[in-house]
Amino acid sequence: MKIAIAKEIDAAEPRVAAVPETVKKFKALGAEVAVEPGAGVKSGVPDAEYQAAGATVAADAVKDADIVIKVKRPEASELAAYKRGALVIAIMDPYGNDAALKSMADAGVAAFAMELMPRITRAQVMDVLSSQANLAGYRAVIEAADAFGRAFPMMMTAAGTVPAAKVFVMGVGVAGLQAIATARRLGAIVTATDVRPAVKEQVESLGAKFIAVEDDEFKQAETAGGYAKEMSREYQAKQAALTAEHIKKQDIVITTALIPGRPAPRLVSSDMVKSMKPGSVLVDLAVERGGNVEGVKSGEVVDLDGIKIVGFPNLAGRVAASASALYAKNLFAFIETLVDKSTKALAVKWDDDLVKATALTRDGAVIHPNFQPKSA
Ligand code: NAI
Repeated sequence: MKIAIAKEIDAAEPRVAAVPETVKKFKALGAEVAVEPGAGVKSGVPDAEYQAAGATVAADAVKDADIVIKVKRPEASELAAYKRGALVIAIMDPYGNDAALKSMADAGVAAFAMELMPRITRAQVMDVLSSQANLAGYRAVIEAADAFGRAFPMMMTAAGTVPAAKVFVMGVGVAGLQAIATARRLGAIVTATDVRPAVKEQVESLGAKFIAVEDDEFKQAETAGGYAKEMSREYQAKQAALTAEHIKKQDIVITTALIPGRPAPRLVSSDMVKSMKPGSVLVDLAVERGGNVEGVKSGEVVDLDGIKIVGFPNLAGRVAASASALYAKNLFAFIETLVDKSTKALAVKWDDDLVKATALTRDGAVIHPNFQPKSA
């Protein structure tokens, strides 16, 4: 069994799918491990460290590999080098990307999307959405602090008092919770909102104040999977009225609101942005899914008369070494379930819940029920 760690071809992706610690674990599983040169450099892992952990470093690492691990979905040029039948495991971003799924099917690989891992206890250790969102939430606050011309904590000095920054977190999933915790650690006064009632207690336990329209629709807003539903127009209007008043008084707004498989909900209008004081900062973590803030631009800091809207995609990648270390462990934990420990050979159980939930393509076809070609 040969496992290959591919170098990301997207120059904007600094993460890597394995670290020396997981290379050692793959070796202990009985695998040969090959790494493409420079794969870990942007995450602080030089080739020599992979070699010291027992991997070979080779430009043709993916050739003949039974499993190719990556951060991002492989492009056609990468797929051409993979063996037919190889397992390819990555963050596949499958929604709305039918052509890319077809090209993986056509390449004959078995592609697995780590972000489709079910959120059940057994798979928590494989949950890339959580491991990466946690770091993104942390980083969002660091970006906000960087773009903000004032201090976060209250400081009483001989020269006068610096007031604490007011931070409002919109959307309190994994990223939002970490954003609240980070902003609190920096000394900010934190408020937060979400459409799921379960969040209220979590927000309060972190020392922040919960603000939301708590009507009957709100009480029903959580799906069995723990995710948000798309809210009605009426709810959205009430929510907008409440948050408009609140946002005016904030220094920092961090938005993280997402609904699985849907564009991000628009939570902050241009008028709300303009109602903020000059020097205020908005950080939109949902920018890759269309953004929660009107006017956000991917990869840019938009400056509207002194109010900044930060739209960096891949915030987890801005903490690349930590993000790679956690992602690598998520991958190892999943791959371990695909290997027969006694024969040390690949033994995918195609009827396993984790495999069924994540497998996108196999034997030349798109097999995942959520991504069947429309005409079929
Ligand atoms: P997410 O990234 O899908 O969404 C972020 C947040 O945005 C969510 O809290 C969502 O309720 C909120 N949101 C959506 N529409 C909104 C709106 N119009 N206004 C305000 N907020 C809005 O969520 P994430 O981080 O993936 O977490 C979803 C749930 O999954 C949480 O309950 C989390 O605790 C749970 N979870 C469960 C795990 C498990 O293994 N059991 C692991 C990780 C998370």
